[in-house]
Formats: sequence, structure tokens, C-alpha cells
Amino acid sequence: MSRRFEEIYRSSLEAPEEFWAEAAEAIDWERRWDRVLDDGAGPVTRWFTGARVNTCHNALDRHVDGGRADQAALVYDSPVTGTVERFTFRELRDRVARFAGALADRGVQPGDRVVVYMPMVPEAVIAMLACARLGAVHSVVFGGFAADELAVRIDDARPRVIVSASCGIEPTRIVEYKPLLDRAIERSTHRPESCIILQRETHPCELTPGRDVDWLEAEAAAAPRDCVPVAATDPLYILYTSGTTGRPKGVVRDNGGHLVALHWSMRNIYGVEPGETYWAASDVGWVVGHSYIVYGPLVHGNTTVLYEGKPVGTPDAGAFWRVISDHDVRVLFTAPTAFRAIRRVDPRGELLARYDLSRLRALFLAGERTDPDTLSWAQEMLGVPVVDHWWQTETGWPICSNCLGIEELPVKLGSPSRSVPGWDVRALDEEGQEVAPGATGALAVKLPLPPGSLPTLWNDEETFRSSYLERFPGYYETADAGFIDEDGYVFVMSRTDDIINVAGHRLSTGAIEEVIAAHPDVAECAVVGVADSLKGQLPIGLLVLSSGCDRDRGEVEAEVVAAVREKIGPVAAFKTALVVERLPKTRSGKILRGTVRKIADAKPVRTPATIEDPAVLSEIAESLRRAGWPPTNS
Ligand code: COA
Ligand code: AMP
Repeated sequence: MSRRFEEIYRSSLEAPEEFWAEAAEAIDWERRWDRVLDDGAGPVTRWFTGARVNTCHNALDRHVDGGRADQAALVYDSPVTGTVERFTFRELRDRVARFAGALADRGVQPGDRVVVYMPMVPEAVIAMLACARLGAVHSVVFGGFAADELAVRIDDARPRVIVSASCGIEPTRIVEYKPLLDRAIERSTHRPESCIILQRETHPCELTPGRDVDWLEAEAAAAPRDCVPVAATDPLYILYTSGTTGRPKGVVRDNGGHLVALHWSMRNIYGVEPGETYWAASDVGWVVGHSYIVYGPLVHGNTTVLYEGKPVGTPDAGAFWRVISDHDVRVLFTAPTAFRAIRRVDPRGELLARYDLSRLRALFLAGERTDPDTLSWAQEMLGVPVVDHWWQTETGWPICSNCLGIEELPVKLGSPSRSVPGWDVRALDEEGQEVAPGATGALAVKLPLPPGSLPTLWNDEETFRSSYLERFPGYYETADAGFIDEDGYVFVMSRTDDIINVAGHRLSTGAIEEVIAAHPDVAECAVVGVADSLKGQLPIGLLVLSSGCDRDRGEVEAEVVAAVREKIGPVAAFKTALVVERLPKTRSGKILRGTVRKIADAKPVRTPATIEDPAVLSEIAESLRRAGWPPTNS
């Protein structure tokens, strides 16, 4: 059993240079590497140093020249606008080349940053690939973030150009991007030289004279640009993700290692062949969207689906099944929360009968732990392997997965299976010693990290070292905790920091606390992620009012909720703030957030030995109960 997987896994760790050099043969290089694995080039291993390559060439041009010109590269399926549009590799290459011209016309040079703040429209993908074509560095910001979050990213990335759209379309409302963009630019210290704005028919916007240019006009006036080869180690993109403070971390991705790893993963993990349709139902604003809506499938010669809709409500819980059957999707990747949403509306899967899903081969889930119940339900409904796989924005591709393209391993419910070739995951104790099989520890990856994982943080090598490399020398600290069983199956159980996962979206409770603490009537607060049957986790905030504040509690609670939406964005899904008399603390004054979470989750609570006053625990429980927590629909 598992001989083939075992052999490949062992060779990836014993001889990583040979392993990844062989995988790199699948990529078109402008200049081959001097070294496959270079330990002297940065804080962690750099891959393919000396090589020159262009990511856009590998995603588009080489397929156009290699016989896939008329194959669909991208299918845009948008139930919110009633649109389905197909772009062949040739058409997509031509649009990208022209838009690269539009960026170059605005001064974008190799290494310059371009912020992309867009909804799920083909132009978002075109903008990303156009940056890659020029050797510029894109930084996509998820549309559900508010102006302040965008401003922080603008100040850190310092883009020459920002690409945006007039609006996004959520099922119940139009999200006006332009006012958010204007506010963000107003609040940021760095100012882009220009903004290219896609006017959407649903809700066009007014352009700011002298700064904004209409996308279509800019594209029409531009001459197509060729691919510019860059160093394999040059950055392809920066993707900001939640850290433990309000300041997000700018995860950097390189060009060469990323190409090799993603190409390898398409066949070996997901088991797809070039030419087949692969669908990641995520958003281009997240790492899943970067790796598996845009780069992975295109580089591998697959057709990718860009879906502007939801699993339910656009128009119903059969939406995913329709997309799979309409576009002949062979492998689907999404977050467990999407399946929980579908199951909640259509528990018996009655809508499935309307569609032909006979060619779907597998479902992959990530972004949060897949609860065994959801996994079993999905398997029963679809009749195909359902694979829980574990990864992070930082890693760029899966750390643990059942690698269907190598060999399907037996499933253990609750585990994303074993370390993927290239990844050597260990569970460590406080001293950095490996714990026994089955014992819980900090999950860490023995260095070197494989290609495709982050080489550093943008402008912040210090935080890169302190966040990931210092606690366990010789390892990358994932900030996830869990255990590894005697068969090498990894079980990822919780974060070791304040990150929570809300509907597959990564959020920092610390960042939410920073917003709440800035409210003039709040003396102190604690935000915790509590279990939610749809979104996995939801943030709730407990706040203590400043002494002397005699305002209506409900009013302050509503203001705090509004402030989080205004400062972080709707994506935080922060709807519950509750004024309490005091927070549980240790005698040294540390807030016992874990204890608050257990109370809110209605779990048994053992009174911590260090607590200052145990009576506060029943006060908190009573406040939550009076506020109707947990809500009956969660
Ligand atoms: N632009 C603007 N607003 C957005 C947005 C976007 N791109 N995406 C979400 N939002 C808003 C939503 O409209 C919602 O606003 P509301 O408070 O006014 O209702 C809020 O952000 C919270 O969104 P979300 O948590 O996604 O909830 P939802 O009710 O819209 O949808 C699910 C719930 C489960 C259907 C949805 O979260 C989902 O499909 N999740 C999959 C997650 C995913 O793709 N993760 C990526 C890793 S694989
Ligand atoms: P993100 O960077 O947004 O992809 O979030 C990464 C975090 O999501 C991880 O560190 C985990 O905490 C969690 N996560 C992602 N996938 C899984 C999974 N399959 N099982 C458990 N946790 C997961």
C-alpha cells in the first residue's frame, strides 16, 4: 500500500535538487538556472537562482504556440450579471498583451508594483497576467476589504498604478468600489500615478480627472507588449494576509519556484490533465484564487473557471452543480463553508438530479479544517473522492494532501492526509523537540521549504524571520497546532496565534480588537472566534466601557460593529459586540481569551488557576445568555 507515493515522497526529501530540477523541465525558461537550491541567497532557500523566466509566457504564450491557441483558457461564469464568456488562450494572450501595453504606457516597469482591487471579472485575471508579462509585481486586494485596509496595502506596496472597477456585485447589493478606492487613496501617504478603472454596466462611476483612465480606452489605445523575462527569484506578486496585528503581512511569491511547484501540483495533487477544466470556487483576492484560479491551471494548460457568484442564492443551491455540468469541470476546489451552505439549503441534494456531474472526478477542500460530517455528506452526494488539504497564503500550495495524481491514499476523517512531496511536517513541543505520534504540538516544516513557498515578506525581512523562522531554528513555523499519527497523517486542529477563519477568510482577532479599542467609550475589549455551523468561526467582541461612560450600551455596541465594517470591511462578518462589566484576566492582567471562547461556545470551562477573580466567568456566561448567544440559527 502507498508504495508509489512513498517512493516519490522520499525522493523529494532525500534529493530535492534532482526532484525539483526534473519538475522544472515542464517550464519554458529563458535562461536555465545556475543552482536549483541556493541556501546562500536569502533567509530561506531560493530556488533556481540564475534562471530567467516569464510567468505570463508560461501561462499563455507557450500554449498559444504549442497547439492550445483555440482551447478555452478562461470561462467567466457570472450568475450575478447573467453572463457566460469564454476566452481562448489566444484571446486571453491578446487581451493581456494589450493591457500590458496600457500599464507600460503609464510607466509600469519591471519590479514596479500594481495594486489590483477588483471583483471576480476576467479583467482582474488580465491585470494580474499583464503585470506578470511586464515583470511588474501585482498585489491583489480582496473586494470585501474596506478603504482603510486598502490604504494600508497601498502604503506598503507603493504601487505606480492601481487597477480597479466601478463596482462589485454581491447578491443583495452593489459594492461601489470607486468611493472605497478614492477614500483609500485619500488616506494613504503614497499616491499612485494613475488608476485604470473598469466601468461595469451595472453601475458605472465618475472618473477622477487627471488620475483615472477608463480601462477600455486605455486598452484600445495601447500597443501589445511582449513578455519580459525576469530572474526566477524576482517577485511575481505580493499578497497581504492577516498577521497578529492590524498590520497585514505582505507575502512575497517568486516567479521560478512558483511556476515549477504549481505546475507539478496540478497533475500530482489534483490529478488533472492539460486540456481539462479545473474550477477553484474562490476569489482572486485570496491565495487560492492566485494559485488555482489563475496561475496553476493556466500554466498547466487547463481551462479555468472564474465564477462570480455564491454557492447558494445565485440563484439557488444547485449553482455549483450547474457550473460543473455546463463547463465540464473535472476537479472542483472550494472551502468547506461553501458545502455547508449548500447542505443547509438542500440537505438531501435534490438539486443534484438536474445536472450531469458524471465527469467530475474529485472535490478538494481547504481554507479551514473540513469537519468530518461535511466531508462525508459531500462524498455521499457527489460519489467522488473528497480531499481535505491543508495550506496557507504563505505556502502558496498544499502542505498536506491526498495526492490523487500520484496515488489515492486511504482517507482518515479529520486529517488532510500526509505531507505532500517537498514538505516535511513535524509536530514539535515548546523546546522544539518532536513529540510522539498522536501527541499535540506546534506544526512546523523542516527547512528547506519547497519551491513556491514564500521567500520573505515584502519590506519586512525582520518580521519574516521572527514570525516564521526564529521559534524553531531549522523549521518554518506554520502557527497551526495539531498532531501526526503513526501513519504520518497530519491532523490540523487550531491556530497558535489569534488568527481565525471565517467562511474560509483569514482574519486577525487582534486587528478587530485594535478597531474596537479605538472607540472613545471602550476601555478594553476581547475578540474571540467562536464556532459557527456555517462559517466555521465567527468573531464576537466583549467590551468594557470606559469609567464614567453612561451611554446606552446598545448604541455603543452598534457603533463598534459599524466601525469594524467601516475599517476592516464586511468580510470580517463582525455582527456581535457585547458590553460586559469586566473581562476575565490573570493576576498579571492578561485577558483570558481562550476561556471567553469556551464560554461563548458553551463548552465546559475549567477555572484557570491564574484567574484574578473566578466570579467573572459566570458574569460573562450570564451576559452572553441575556444577549441571546448563541443565536438559534448558528
Ligand atoms: N466584495 C465585497 N463584499 C464582499 C465580497 C466581495 N468580494 N465577498 C464577500 N463580501 C461581503 C458579503 O456580501 C457579506 O456582506 P454582508 O455582511 O453585507 O452580508 C460579507 O462580506 C461576509 O461575506 P461572507 O462571509 O463570504 O458571507 P456570505 O454570506 O456572503 O457568503 C458563503 C457565505 C459561505 C456562501 C461564502 O462565504 C462562500 O462562498 N465562501 C467560500 C469562501 C472562499 O471562497 N474562501 C477562499 C478560500 S478557498
Ligand atoms: P489562508 O492563509 O487564508 O489560506 O489560511 C491559512 C490557515 O487556514 C491555516 O494556517 C489553517 O489555520 C487554516 N487551514 C487552511 N486549510 C486547512 C485545512 N485543510 N485544515 C485545517 N486548517 C486549515
